This record gives sequence, structure tokens and C-alpha cells, in this order.
Amino acid sequence: YPDGYFIYDGIPYTSTMCSVSNLSACKEIQFRDDDVLIASYPKTGTTWLQEMVYLVCNDANTEKAKESMIGDRVPCIEHAFQGKQSTINKLKDNKQQRLMFTHLRTSFFEQEIKQSNIKVILLIRNAGDTLISYYHFYKLATRYSGDWNSFFEIFQKKQLVYGDYYDWYVDWLRLLHFPNVILMRYEDIKRYHAASVEMLSRFLGKTLSSNEIQIIVEATSFTAMKHNPGTNQKQNPMFDHQQGEFIRKGEVGDWKNYFNEEQTIYIKHLDEEFLKPFELE
Ligand code: A3P
Repeated sequence: YPDGYFIYDGIPYTSTMCSVSNLSACKEIQFRDDDVLIASYPKTGTTWLQEMVYLVCNDANTEKAKESMIGDRVPCIEHAFQGKQSTINKLKDNKQQRLMFTHLRTSFFEQEIKQSNIKVILLIRNAGDTLISYYHFYKLATRYSGDWNSFFEIFQKKQLVYGDYYDWYVDWLRLLHFPNVILMRYEDIKRYHAASVEMLSRFLGKTLSSNEIQIIVEATSFTAMKHNPGTNQKQNPMFDHQQGEFIRKGEVGDWKNYFNEEQTIYIKHLDEEFLKPFELE
């Protein structure tokens, strides 16, 4: 298990990122109508969407974006690093428009999402690539030294930090019928980058020129984000930089380089059982 692994409401977390008291505080959050929330399972392209949302809401101002790290501009609601003020408390005091993200379940927010006009962007990526990305992230961020097959077993036991991928999406996709919730897919953003930025700006009520859309597309290309210290987190002291980079590969289908036949069938069944009923295609 990663350092400080603990269970809260049946879901695994690590105390390097949040604490029990902090998670309880997250349940009390009050949303405002101009809030924007990205809800995603880890490794589904959250940072990518954070940067796009930030630039859309800040008129494609890439200079302003460079002034601080993405995690400070679009913070994670539940983060509470030791010795620092928790994000949830900072958010309470923030008088400006709040852009934020979470990997928590709906039970923390469902009533607030229903009762406010907060805009929620639910992000999904295919399970295979998400797990491969998570495997590399475990090595980078938690000093995990097992191989891919051992990591897959942790997934099968639903012991990964933030819990099971499928449970996570079955929970959140229920909220898709709310008028203030949309779904974006990593694979679609890869394929239709400009159209995705356009869709995002429409949803967020921003009118951007085609020039501004183009600026955002370029600033959020894989290469630009890999070279951007504000997004690639090369200075993050929590990471073992020998293991590679946070913005790693950014491809669709990398799972095929790792999954054996049994693992492929396992995921296929879970896709059929849990995601197919939502007719995401
Ligand atoms: P890989 O490990 O497959 O490369 P998250 O931000 O939720 O932790 O997700 C991280 C994943 O998103 C990583 O996937 C990362 O490389 C990918 N990613 C980040 N920025 C990207 C971009 N501009 N284009 C494509 N993928 C990106």
C-alpha cells in the first residue's frame, strides 16, 4: 500500500493527500453558481482538462496561466498536504470564480450539484489506458515497485487509491441527466481537440474567437504541456523523477502493450456489464 493508506466510507485514500477530518470538511462544501468542477477518476486526463478549463475561463490568457502551477489555479477539492492550509478552506475564502477538480464520489456533492447551478464536467477515459497510466503514476508518486501484473491484482481487489474505476463511473454517470453536468472523453478530446475546446467554452458560457480557441489548442497540446513546468510538475517533491514524467505518453491504446489475454477479457466483461448500459458511444 502507498504511504498513509487509509479507508474512509469504504474508499481507499492516502494521508499524503488528504485526511479523515479534511474529507469530512469536503462534505460541507457549498457550491456557487459560477463554480466549475471537473470530476474524474485519477489518470483520465484531469490535468489536461484543468488547463483547458482554466484557459477557456481566462480568455486564452496563456501568460497568466504560466504564473502559477495548474494545481494552484484549478485545485483538487480534497487535497490537504501536511503543514499547508487545506484546499477546502482556501476555496471557502476564495471570492473569485472557483475552478476545481475532484476524484471523490458523488456522495460528497450530489445535493449541492442538484441545488446549485455549478457546472460539472465529468471526464472519462477507457479503463485500460487509465490503469496503465495509474500504474506508472504509482511508481512515480508512491514508490510502488511491483510489476504490472501485481498492480492489476490491486485493481481487481478494488484496493487502488480512490477505489474501483467501474464503481466510480457507475456512481457519477447517474448524474449525467442533470442539466448542469456534461461528459467529456479523453479519446474524443484527442481526436477532436478544437471542437472539444469549443464545446467546453459553450458549456461554460464563454464566447471565444477562433483565434483564442486555436491558442488554447496549442497551449494544451501534449508537447506544450510536457514542456510546461506549470503542468508537467518536474519540481514536485512528492515524485520520484527517476521513474519518468507526470505528462508521460498521452496516447490512446497504450494498454495493448501491457495487458495479457486474461486481463483483456476481464476488462471487456466489466465494460460490458458496467459501462455499456450508459450507452456512451
Ligand atoms: P499517460 O500516463 O497515459 O501518458 P491525470 O491528469 O488525470 O493524472 O491524467 C494523466 C494522463 O493524462 C497521462 O496519461 C498524461 O500523459 C495525460 N495527459 C496530460 N496532458 C495531456 C495532453 N495535453 N494530451 C494528451 N494526454 C495528456
